[in-house]
Amino acid sequence: MRIPFVAGNWKMNTTVTEAEQLIFEMLEKLDRIEGVEKVLCPPFVSLVAVNMMLRGSSIKLGAQNMYFETAGAYTGEISPLMLRELCEFVILGHSERRWYFGETDEIVNKKVKVALTNKLKPILCVGERLAENEAGKTEEVVNRQVTAALNGAEPVSNLVVAYEPVWAIGTGKAASGEQAAATIQFIRDVLAKLWNKSIAQNLRILYGGSVTRANIAEFISHPEIDGALVGGASLKAEEFASIVEQTAEIKGRIK
Ligand code: 13P
Repeated sequence: MRIPFVAGNWKMNTTVTEAEQLIFEMLEKLDRIEGVEKVLCPPFVSLVAVNMMLRGSSIKLGAQNMYFETAGAYTGEISPLMLRELCEFVILGHSERRWYFGETDEIVNKKVKVALTNKLKPILCVGERLAENEAGKTEEVVNRQVTAALNGAEPVSNLVVAYEPVWAIGTGKAASGEQAAATIQFIRDVLAKLWNKSIAQNLRILYGGSVTRANIAEFISHPEIDGALVGGASLKAEEFASIVEQTAEIKGRIK
């Protein structure tokens, strides 16, 4: 049985003060929701403060990126050793990293392997761009991204995959529940071939891209979709709590 999973990716938003305020606003409500793994991914500079605020709660912490070396002369980079003192998860291969910062499949692969060997749980993001979608290449693209990212990695159950079609991120144009469920099932089949069926069956695969309190039900009512990676809507305490609440309620019902 896969435990539903909802993560908030705050991206490059919130100062430390604002991050503390946002945690203050959502902590109690989120903490009480059972049956969903809840993860918040604030910017690096807020990880220490948020880590302290989340102690003793049921909410877990994640980072948004990481370098693939553990230490050394890499000015400005953050290592898995630094992160693992503070958080359990790390988002890797987000499309904004791939397209704005030139992260290739090879770089994502190095990061995934280093995260796993350092006991950080990757939230691996994959997804096609608009032109690829329109050309019918969605499966080809996600197959390539998943296969490349996991190349040489030992099969593990502490990987989370997020299917985030690039055209749906921050655009208000979410995929339909059916589209997302079909691609997520395809990703699970790719994982079954790459690793094995029983591990693939146990991995959580999320949908991400313009998820809101108004459309979350459409996604998580599909048994293939184990939860959501939420961007903009995770910056609003009420809305994010509602997304997690609906996930708990709907997944609890279809269990
Ligand atoms: P939005 O929810 O703002 O579309 O962002 C999705 C995302 O990229 C989460 O990682």
